[in-house]
Amino acid sequence: MLHIPDVLTSEEAAQLRDRLVAAQWVDGNATSGAGAAEAKRNRQLPEDAPATHAAQQSVSRALMNNATFLSAALPHTIFPPLFNRYGPGETFGLHVDNAIRYHAATGARIRTDLSATLFLTPPDEYEGGELIVEGNSGTQRHKLPAGSLLLYPSTTLHRVAEVTRGERVSCFMWLQSLVADNAAREMLFDLDQSVQTLSTDRGAIDAEVLKLTQLYHNLVRRWAQS
Ligand code: NI
Repeated sequence: MLHIPDVLTSEEAAQLRDRLVAAQWVDGNATSGAGAAEAKRNRQLPEDAPATHAAQQSVSRALMNNATFLSAALPHTIFPPLFNRYGPGETFGLHVDNAIRYHAATGARIRTDLSATLFLTPPDEYEGGELIVEGNSGTQRHKLPAGSLLLYPSTTLHRVAEVTRGERVSCFMWLQSLVADNAAREMLFDLDQSVQTLSTDRGAIDAEVLKLTQLYHNLVRRWAQS
């Protein structure tokens, strides 16, 4: 599980949220898997709405320019981001995300390795609405600043706590990673982060930095599935 700050600036997040809330929303069960529908009470932007397409482009561009996201996710295919909102009394009960997602418009299908939520509402504007993820190291509650992303394995059970005041608007997505195995992907991320730090300290052509860089890329070659 990883917090990635400032995928959007707080101003960009506010602008995006203002544009989204002015659009037409529908019942969130439009994208649920069969088991999830009963537990889900929220609203969602239709996948084919013009506001959705414009917002998808802003978010996708921001993700592709974020070095931390690219290193942590090693994305193969990102399912087009979607948008939801939770007002008072709305919630999404404990569930696991469907293993496979089909994109109706393009016929594309992905295996969901990672799920992500990009928070668009500042945390002090609503109560409740935490994203609660049951991981190996226990249950964690997440409520991030507007513009920050939570990246977590799609294999986890997770839920969204009921909103009791205000409104929580966010963007959510699934992606297939080049490295399916969570532990392998997390080790690659740790190694890459250390190589980046060492490279800053010693320079990218330092002999040991070069060896670790080589090791990183050769592990990616070994584990990546295209
Ligand atoms: Ni989910």
